[in-house]
Amino acid sequence: MFKAVATPLRRRESNTEFTPAKRTADGQSTSETCAKLVKTANGSSMRGHSLVAIGQLGLEDVAEIMRTAGQMHELVKCSGGDNSLKGKVLASVFYEPSTRTNCSFQAAMLRLGGQVISVNESSSSVAKGETLSDTVRCLECYCDVLVLRHPKAGAASEAAAAMSTPLLNAGDGVGEHPSQALLDLYTIIDELSASSAALAADSVRALKSELSGKVITMVGDLKNGRTVHSLAKLLSRFEVVLRFVSPESLRMPQEVIQQCSTGAQWTQHDRLTDDILQETDILYVTRVQKERFANLDDYNEVKDAFIISPATLAKMKATARVMHPLPRVGEIDPRCDQDPRAAYFRQMRNGMYVRMALLRLILS
Ligand code: NCD
Repeated sequence: MFKAVATPLRRRESNTEFTPAKRTADGQSTSETCAKLVKTANGSSMRGHSLVAIGQLGLEDVAEIMRTAGQMHELVKCSGGDNSLKGKVLASVFYEPSTRTNCSFQAAMLRLGGQVISVNESSSSVAKGETLSDTVRCLECYCDVLVLRHPKAGAASEAAAAMSTPLLNAGDGVGEHPSQALLDLYTIIDELSASSAALAADSVRALKSELSGKVITMVGDLKNGRTVHSLAKLLSRFEVVLRFVSPESLRMPQEVIQQCSTGAQWTQHDRLTDDILQETDILYVTRVQKERFANLDDYNEVKDAFIISPATLAKMKATARVMHPLPRVGEIDPRCDQDPRAAYFRQMRNGMYVRMALLRLILS
């Protein structure tokens, strides 16, 4: 079951785009299938709620998001989108740089017929000294959902507490990045499963059986990377095996490890050994988060600790996948991009489907 925040409010992507009308297996035309897709999202337990931390979602919610994202993928393929969120407005409030998260949330809203207003640090009254609470309290008068990225961990929860309109945390400092974890999960099941992600998420049981025992190796800046914080917490509920590989100074925080310990096996390493590479199903690579370091020398010491090259991939299974939330700044050699196991650009594309699903479930 979905937990409201404790506040007053409270088959793999080919590069094909539009597919011309075809009859489906059950004899329906593409437009009939699309019409069905419009109706699927009503009555979710997420309706009207904020998503600040991944732990708010029950497993049924996660499966529902995965299924709806699969439907959104189909919808985009067959008609580009629909008008299910016509009349709704999304406020995109980004106080840290973003390419993928910001644009995919905006594209998601536009593809569902909604509209977008956007604010950044220099264009908002934060520059005049306004508090975050006051800014979001003002913006909620103009929108139906607010997407917030902020440099301070805890800012999303603070903002959600000040509002009664749903807020989606698009990354709060070194805290969490729940929509990224959901798109990562979607990508993992879509890449590893023989069927589509939507079918693999038919039920919580189906999802668990897809993921149980899979070895997910997270590499890089596990201390400051908010994507791996949310993803480790999410994956640990599906009985996976987690390998945390990082320099000593960039270890996964204890708070995250404690949450993982309840459902997953995990180990911690300072080297990406051949043994780890050979058993890994998903190699999740992260950028060393330069902006979180107080001292540039400390950053320079660890920034090239792990570089994934074709030689690294040569040691991995043929069925393994390499993921990265992007942007990358040298930790994956571009020569890896041609390898079919490099899933990071497909992962980025999935972000829009998952964010369409979140918006549909929260606003429909
Ligand atoms: C990540 C982020 O902002 O946390 N990027 C993203 O949202 N896709 C990862 C990063 O910046 O390294």
